[in-house]
Amino acid sequence: MEKPFETYFGGKGSQGTYQAIINHIRPHQRFVEVFAGNATISRKMKRADENILIDLNPTVCERLVECMEGYKVVNQSGIEFLKNELINPSLLKTAYFIDPPYLMETRKSANQYEFELIPAEHEELLQVAVKLDNPNNDLLICTYPHDLYKDYLKGWFLYEYQSTTRGGLATEWLFMNYHESDITDLHDYTHLGGGHRERQLYRKKMKRWLENFGELPQLFQNQLLAELLKEHQIRREVMK
Ligand SMILES: C[S@@+](CC[C@H](N)C(=O)[O-])C[C@H]1O[C@@H](n2cnc3c(N)ncnc32)[C@H](O)[C@@H]1O
Repeated sequence: MEKPFETYFGGKGSQGTYQAIINHIRPHQRFVEVFAGNATISRKMKRADENILIDLNPTVCERLVECMEGYKVVNQSGIEFLKNELINPSLLKTAYFIDPPYLMETRKSANQYEFELIPAEHEELLQVAVKLDNPNNDLLICTYPHDLYKDYLKGWFLYEYQSTTRGGLATEWLFMNYHESDITDLHDYTHLGGGHRERQLYRKKMKRWLENFGELPQLFQNQLLAELLKEHQIRREVMK
């Protein structure tokens, strides 16, 4: 899949950042990237049955249409889109990834998007997000640390991480309407691991396990697979 933009201000593509986010996204049927920009999370993650990208900038949307085949691109305000979700909720289990332009006062860089949110719009966004909080919707919201988000999203799980930005290392917040301990399954395991080393170790182990598995006689592979699935099912029942 071609990258819509080689680099994108505020994009979530830096090493460690997109992995941290994807490792908090639970299984879903419908994925909505609300302030899409370079659509980093959608591009790096396994597709859902239905995929939607929203950005208010028409030039960004044109590029997304060119590059992101099979994704529905909506040139609309993310806030309006979310308000409409309240009126016409989807029956599909939906994960919303919400990465708005951050509050001006929290930013180090003077860079600006063609379309920005004024503080009142941040409040409007947070009010809609809180209303969308129900068991059918997983909501993930990014921001730089700020009381406005903390106050509105009281009771939500807060995951803090460091991201590499053009202005250097920055602390970012990822709010979720479910607790980290409720993540018993992931939508995409490709980026599993808390850091580069751990991810590399997992990949190596996976490769070794698969090689060993491939060397077993076919019928034994089938039996082992059945046992593993049974064990997996038992563990999931226990975790419920
Ligand atoms: C932080 S960037 C998103 C970066 C993206 N997550 C990525 O990894 O590439 C914010 C995006 O929000 C868009 N935007 C600004 N105001 C908007 C609005 N009201 N509704 C939807 N999109 C908006 C901007 O055009 C910009 O692309």
